Amino acid sequence: MHSARTLATSAPLTLDELCAEVGALLEGERDFIANAANVAAVLYHALRDVNWAGFYILRGTDLVLGPFQGKPACVRIGPGRGVCGAAFEQRKTLIVPDVHEFPGHIACDSASRSEIVVPLLKEGRAIGVLDLDSPLLNRFSVEDAAELEAVAQLLLDGSDV
Ligand code: SME
Repeated sequence: MHSARTLATSAPLTLDELCAEVGALLEGERDFIANAANVAAVLYHALRDVNWAGFYILRGTDLVLGPFQGKPACVRIGPGRGVCGAAFEQRKTLIVPDVHEFPGHIACDSASRSEIVVPLLKEGRAIGVLDLDSPLLNRFSVEDAAELEAVAQLLLDGSDV
């Protein structure tokens, strides 16, 4: 079981702490949906200034809403659409400092001002994305990107997909 300690503090988690938290949550369970749901919950509650954290999973040609925390979101994203579709197609993490400046950005919550999307790559296959939104401009750094990529990798390694 994960400890409530790190989630109870308002201090930002270090990469080591975040990975330890996620590793503990995934222990003994390989169901991808269950693990992704807990990862979304950890990210949403542990990170500052995040108003949405969750997953879109490839279903056919579309990215379809998966486990998340935050307000209800758009259910289906067509190929190459929005930040999620772009990150998925390019197979690289996209940091968007101001969503209003990103052509084709899909607004799910009008409060969102910046966004980061990490592709989920399992043995070379892109199977979905991890998406975080913030109500602050320029919330996500390259350090955040590395941190979220590490978390995504833990999820993929620890789950059957
Ligand atoms: N903004 C995303 C859509 C998903 S929501 O942010 C939850 C995009 O442009 O792909």
